[in-house]
Amino acid sequence: MKSKKTIKGVTPPQNVPASFLNKLGEMHTAELELTIALPLIMVAAESKDLKALLKLHLKETKGHVKALNQVVQGLNREMPKKPCKRMTAMIAEGVKVIGKRLISGQQDAELIRVGQKIERFEMENYKQLCTTAEHNDYAHEFALLKSVLNQEEIAETLLGQLAQGKGPLKPLIQKASLKRAGAQATED
Ligand SMILES: [Fe+2]
Repeated sequence: MKSKKTIKGVTPPQNVPASFLNKLGEMHTAELELTIALPLIMVAAESKDLKALLKLHLKETKGHVKALNQVVQGLNREMPKKPCKRMTAMIAEGVKVIGKRLISGQQDAELIRVGQKIERFEMENYKQLCTTAEHNDYAHEFALLKSVLNQEEIAETLLGQLAQGKGPLKPLIQKASLKRAGAQATED
């Protein structure tokens, strides 16, 4: 069989672990669900900073969907259609908080708590995906997944800072991004 060349003349691998592909499919569903849920959570959020952070992360999340598609394309495979029960359950938890907010006002702390839970779940999964990509020498795919992981880590950090009442958001973003970039430079 003639192997197809996709990204920058790199030949896609012959054997891609099924567990890796399935996890990519699961995260693809998770991220897609988030692109629907985040605008709702954004509307429900009370504080300007939390709204702004959710808006920023919605944009990033759309990028994560694209990145996952690129990873699967780079490996010359089809995206497996997989449910992500954990994400669906966490989003349902978020929707419940939104419902409470309609009755009793301020629920930002609860929204942040669910948000952090979601980010930690994503971080855990992207870490695993990065490890497998690195292990299998999928260099391009590793880079894509690593940048998604970085954005999830920054989002988690920022949510935590908003929970502590820190702000405004802009300098927090700059600080968190610089800190991440510094940490990466020492990793490389
Ligand atoms: Fe994400």
